[in-house]
Amino acid sequence: MMTVAVLLLSLLLSDLTTSQIPNPTQYRFTLTTDGIARERYAIDKQVGKMSRLWFSNIGDEEFGGNQDIYVRDDGRTYLFNFMSQPRQCIANRGGPYNEMNYWPNLVQSFGGEQKKYDELIFDADCDGTCLTWKTEFNRTYEHYRYVNRLYVKKAEQKPIKMVTRAYNLDTGELVSTSITKFTNWITGKVPDYEYDYPMDLETCYKP
Ligand SMILES: *[C@@H]1O[C@H](CO)[C@@H](O)[C@H](O)[C@H]1NC(C)=O
Repeated sequence: MMTVAVLLLSLLLSDLTTSQIPNPTQYRFTLTTDGIARERYAIDKQVGKMSRLWFSNIGDEEFGGNQDIYVRDDGRTYLFNFMSQPRQCIANRGGPYNEMNYWPNLVQSFGGEQKKYDELIFDADCDGTCLTWKTEFNRTYEHYRYVNRLYVKKAEQKPIKMVTRAYNLDTGELVSTSITKFTNWITGKVPDYEYDYPMDLETCYKP
C-alpha cells in the first residue's frame, strides 16, 4: 500500500517537473533570430561564472562583437570590446548585468517555472512534440496584437525556439512572424573554455 502511494506520488511529481518550463542554473546556448546568430550565453550559477557574447551585424567583413565575462571570485565583470579600434577591455566592478539572467527572465515572462504548459504542438524543430507556453499583448499605437510562444522539446526538456507573431488588431490578419531559436542548448556543467578570456587581463582598464 505504502509502495503504491510512493509510486503514485513520484509519478505525479515527475509529470509536474516534465510539464513546466526548464530553468536550470547551469546551461549554455546560442540565440539566433530569423537565421542569424545574435548572442551566446554560458551561465554557471554554482561556479559563479557567466559569459555573454553578442555579435555585430552580419555582413561585416571583420569579426565584430562584444563579450561580457563575470567571475564571482574576482568581483568583476570584464567587457571585451572588439568593435572599438583598438579593441579594448574594461574590468568593471561587481556584476553580473541583468542580461546575464536572460533565461530566468524569459522563464518569468512566460509565467515562471511552475507554470504548466498551455498546449502540445507537433513540430519538426522538436522532432515530434513540443510543450508550448503562450503570452500575448496588444500594442495599440502600432495597431498590432502580438502572440509569443515558447517551444520546449518534450522528450528532452530542452528549449527549442520562441515564435512571435503580429496580427492586425481589427482584421486579425497575420502581419509578421519572427523566430528566435536556441541552438547548442546544454544543461549541466558548462565547459570551462566558455569563460576563457579573449584578451590579456593586464591590458584591462580598471575603473
Ligand atoms: C487585444 O485586443 C483584442 C481586440 O481588440 C482583444 O480582443 C483582446 O482581449 C486584447 N488582448 C489583451 C491582452 O489586451
